[in-house]
Amino acid sequence: MKIIACYSNKGGVGKTAAAVNLAYAAALSGQRVLLCDLDPQGASGFYFRVKPSNKLTDDRFFNDVRRFTKAIRASDFEDLDILPANHGFRDFDIFLSRMKHSRSRLKKALKSANHEYDLLLLDCPPNISRLSENIFKIADRIIVPVIPTTLSERTLEQLYDFFDEAGYRKKKLVPVFSMVQKSKKLHQESMDRMRNMHKRFLLHTIPFSSDIEKMGLHRAPALSYAGKRSAAWAYEAVWEELDQLI
Ligand SMILES: Nc1ncnc2c1ncn2[C@@H]1O[C@H](COP(=O)(O)OP(=O)(O)OP(=O)(O)O)[C@@H](O)[C@H]1O
Ligand SMILES: [Mg+2]
Repeated sequence: MKIIACYSNKGGVGKTAAAVNLAYAAALSGQRVLLCDLDPQGASGFYFRVKPSNKLTDDRFFNDVRRFTKAIRASDFEDLDILPANHGFRDFDIFLSRMKHSRSRLKKALKSANHEYDLLLLDCPPNISRLSENIFKIADRIIVPVIPTTLSERTLEQLYDFFDEAGYRKKKLVPVFSMVQKSKKLHQESMDRMRNMHKRFLLHTIPFSSDIEKMGLHRAPALSYAGKRSAAWAYEAVWEELDQLI
């Protein structure tokens, strides 16, 4: 089982949009996928129309493998399950920090309920916390959506610096341009500059698109209703590129 996190220390850059559509693209390609909504805002779960169980909100949730796996919900799509966000996720940090071997424990937790997945996709909240640091450790790859503007560039540099200081493997970070408007000179210049600095940017980019903006209305991945139009295709292409890396 591989673990891919959609993470940025910056808010509103398209982490959830990427997590939801990449999970869908991965499932379409034949992988058995669990999308974990680790952000208490619960946007991923909302897009997939799943609700967390009220019974699972106390902090024992994460100490109990059965509770953890019982909280997993089927989505409307084949091979794609969701762990919806939960108030207990505020304590996800504590849960992970208590685990000595968090990576294998998390795998064990999922396997113990006969939930076997090829891919675990994590939709992360936008901050550097103990939770994110644990994610930096357990993830095989960390997709970092970057809007090609000066502030996003600065945040990406901060993330690379943090990885340097804390000794995390920078190779895990896979930045991808998000909400790209190719007609904007600023976007084009920022992308050129950042690609020169960081060779690991994915070649494919995610365009700014009203198809993606409408996910809140459709409550489904853009890929599932927008077909092969630009935005949908971009996530499929990003998934294929990413799949080669893991
Ligand atoms: N490629 C895109 N084109 C147009 N709108 C987009 C695109 N990607 C995301 N959006 C919109 O931008 C907003 C923020 O996107 P999203 O929720 O995916 O970001 P996020 O990084 O997960 O935010 P947060 O930090 O709050 O978790 C949403 O309203 C979403 O519909
Ligand atoms: Mg989000």
